[in-house]
Amino acid sequence: MSATIAAPADLTITPRDRKFGRETAAPRLWHGGRVEATAIYNALSTTFPAGEAFFVESVRKFREGTPPKLAEEIKGFTTQEAIHSREHDAFNKRASASGYDLSKLEAQVEKRLAITRDRPPIVSLAATMALEHFTAILAHQLLANPGHLKGAEKETADLWRWHAVEEIEHKGVAYDTWLHATKHWPRYKRWKVKAKVMLYVTRNFLVDRTAGALELMRQDGVTDLNAWAKLLWHLWVRPGMFRKIAGAWFSFFLPRFHPWNVDDRHLLAAYEAEAAGRPPGRTVRGAT
Ligand SMILES: [Fe+2]
Ligand SMILES: [Fe+2]
Repeated sequence: MSATIAAPADLTITPRDRKFGRETAAPRLWHGGRVEATAIYNALSTTFPAGEAFFVESVRKFREGTPPKLAEEIKGFTTQEAIHSREHDAFNKRASASGYDLSKLEAQVEKRLAITRDRPPIVSLAATMALEHFTAILAHQLLANPGHLKGAEKETADLWRWHAVEEIEHKGVAYDTWLHATKHWPRYKRWKVKAKVMLYVTRNFLVDRTAGALELMRQDGVTDLNAWAKLLWHLWVRPGMFRKIAGAWFSFFLPRFHPWNVDDRHLLAAYEAEAAGRPPGRTVRGAT
């Protein structure tokens, strides 16, 4: 771990305009035939089209007056998130086509977003900043430990890895925008708001994604104790995503926290090296 409190000076945010799953049909239980693993990722994917559009709108409201480097990074961030929304929308449509009813899950996402949109714009920025840390530590863990996507259908696994790479690449943008927007706040107030918002979004994330995954498992005929046991085992034991991100989640509350205190660009380099072996997607240099 390096001791930075800012994004690396040589970091560039490069949208990779790739499309997934348009030609091959993934099976309904695309994650190794496992009901709970498929349900967890499908439930998470239902949050992305509307959720990432909300992130973009929240950050954009504060881009006026940001330093040129951050303004440039905001452009890269918004382009990446717009493409993620598109690809997860396509992914969700494929899940629907394979028989899942996602309407309850999508309605819950809209309900949460509406509550936040009713508050002042700085609250939306704080929620985005906290959720972007959450996304970045999930992304780090997904790339660092191949066990999370073991057995998954190849192209669908590729979609999740591609998304994870870009989440790491832009993980500091919402945070730096928040620092800029609150630069005149007393330090304690800044910490208190960000800590409260992180606790709030984490609670909602855990409750909503668990309920969403259980609903999708129910649609596959797995219910009650059996469903809870499978779900909790997968999330907390093996491969244990939530257990493995717990330390990184706590780091958010430390006084000199910054997402780039952990420089995990080696995960991006490893992905790019692997990607060099296959036809590259279009990279969007002129991010808008
Ligand atoms: Fe994203
Ligand atoms: Fe993001």
